[in-house]
Amino acid sequence: MTGTCVLGVTGGIAAAKASLLASMLVKQGLDVHVIMTEAACEFVAPLTFRTLTANPVSVDMFAEPGEWNVKHVSLAEAADVFVVAPATANFIGKVASGIADDLLTTTIMATRAPRVIAPAMNSGMYANPIVQRNIETLSALGYRFIGPESGRLACGDVGAGRLAEPERILDFVLHVCAGTGRPSLAGLRVVVTAGPTREPIDPVRFITNRSSGKMGYAIAGAAAVRGAKVTLVSGPVFLPAPEGCEMVRVETACQMRDATIDAAQEADVVVAAAAVADYMPASFSESKIKKSSGFGSLELSRTPDILAELGSAKGERVLVGFAAETDDLLSNAERKLSSKNLDMIVANMVGGEDSPFGADHNTVTILCPGAPPETFPAMSKLVLAHEILDRVSAICHH
Ligand code: C5P
Repeated sequence: MTGTCVLGVTGGIAAAKASLLASMLVKQGLDVHVIMTEAACEFVAPLTFRTLTANPVSVDMFAEPGEWNVKHVSLAEAADVFVVAPATANFIGKVASGIADDLLTTTIMATRAPRVIAPAMNSGMYANPIVQRNIETLSALGYRFIGPESGRLACGDVGAGRLAEPERILDFVLHVCAGTGRPSLAGLRVVVTAGPTREPIDPVRFITNRSSGKMGYAIAGAAAVRGAKVTLVSGPVFLPAPEGCEMVRVETACQMRDATIDAAQEADVVVAAAAVADYMPASFSESKIKKSSGFGSLELSRTPDILAELGSAKGERVLVGFAAETDDLLSNAERKLSSKNLDMIVANMVGGEDSPFGADHNTVTILCPGAPPETFPAMSKLVLAHEILDRVSAICHH
């Protein structure tokens, strides 16, 4: 993504980890401007961030103005997203109390950009009701918190207080940015299926497909960041759990069916992004099949069609399917839209240059009953997730 990210770094040992985050934000294409507190400079040299971001690092309120006039105003206005990692108890307390006494606190007070705060502190400090109250106050005002995680802290304590991993912060920041300005999904209960399924042949072998789970994970994370209550039923994938989703991990199509039908009972929307295996071995061999035993053919049986089952007892639920096709994309997608009784189907071509498997981008056409197909240019799965959810939310409010 493009745009300006202001990254605030406050004084804690986790400030070192913020350099990784800065580098990841730069790699995403963001123009990153770091503001450090005086205490942060005791842990990491400003030069580290200056080198990683190729931008000057600001610390002092009253330094000679250079590129930026009245720095706290110009950085505040330039920011498309404002991230503070690590955020100390002191910083959170100051912001919650309206204190602006250094460059970072004045700038965050002046900004209108979405604000993401990643706390890191001793677990006793984090558990302190004053800190918890301050976090609640800021959350209610729209500040987004990520982490902290539990583990061994630098002070030797074990508990909650460790800075969220930079990958997790980055993922959350990207979701917050992509969701900004879009309608809230608060009050909506969404179930998303994602990833492939694995159908075991014997204890060491299985049938699966190329699904990475990225599209489904993007939809789940996008819905959660916009306030929906999300259950993500996931097949085996190598992706971090999206922030704020209830995870149900499954392996086989049958397990995915049971988990999805169960979660769907309370859902307003089901998005079936999973590439469910269509066939499973008719029987499972408890012992490893020897190649000498003539592994010539494998008898298969159909797996349950989860989405079709939901479509046959649809009720008030909005159902969204995906159609990955190598041929006749639109006619196949249209057939699935009506045969599975769906409100929307997202069709994408598979194979060649366009293959969506494992990619971060996707080119799709969205079909809804009685409406002309809507074809999108290639876009990131993250942004596409929000486009899909915008249309889902419009259907829900009809
Ligand atoms: O496999 P097919 O092309 O029919 O998939 C279309 C849609 O149906 C997808 O959204 C997929 O997640 C869903 N599906 C399912 N259960 C299956 C097969 C597909 O929910 N067994």
